[in-house]
Amino acid sequence: MSRIVDEPEAYFSQFTRKDDPLLQELELEAETEHIPIVGPVVGELLFILSRTSGARSILELGTATGYSTIFLARACALNAGVLTTLEHEPAFAARARKNLERAGLASRTNVLCGDAFAELPRMKGEFDLIFMDIDKGDYARALPQCHRLLRPGGLLVADNVAFPDADPFNRAIFNDGGWRPVSLFAFLPGHSPERDGLCLALRC
Ligand SMILES: C[S@@+](CC[C@H](N)C(=O)[O-])C[C@H]1O[C@@H](n2cnc3c(N)ncnc32)[C@H](O)[C@@H]1O
Repeated sequence: MSRIVDEPEAYFSQFTRKDDPLLQELELEAETEHIPIVGPVVGELLFILSRTSGARSILELGTATGYSTIFLARACALNAGVLTTLEHEPAFAARARKNLERAGLASRTNVLCGDAFAELPRMKGEFDLIFMDIDKGDYARALPQCHRLLRPGGLLVADNVAFPDADPFNRAIFNDGGWRPVSLFAFLPGHSPERDGLCLALRC
């Protein structure tokens, strides 16, 4: 069998989009301030998953400055839908609102400032897609609420699942008949960290 390319990290780094000034500004800001954003590869993946699935109702857990939110909300807007994103740090929620305004997405997005575990039980479904990007150690605890809020056939995407803190989540989702999950471990340029796991799970 033939070998893969030499230096795959350097090779694949060249295939990331660098044509959006706002996203590039947020990438630079994240690097300077050590804000763990998903970066351009996972961002594009979120856009493509949302757009191709026709998601019209999207929930994001963990907004920070709204970088991943912009990818999700752009797809959601093209699908004529609305996105809700949840962030417990007021300063981040305010920055995200400003960035979504700059992206022309204010009317398609609702930035809720609050703790996921206080807000999720109050929410009503049905979401087509949920992106989970809060503290990894809280993923397993959030899983039943994600199942309740997603429609059957909906998609859960969980970031950072290669961290040991995500182990209870990985075990829970693989042993729960209510989900059909797949884990990807990949090189993700611009993601923090650049080698990490993503879990994609179909809500049964
Ligand atoms: C990894 S960052 C999100 C990055 C963002 N999704 C992106 O890629 O641009 C995680 C965010 O989740 C927020 N967060 C952590 N635990 C939370 C919770 N229980 N409820 C709401 N927000 C939370 C943090 O304040 C932080 O801004």
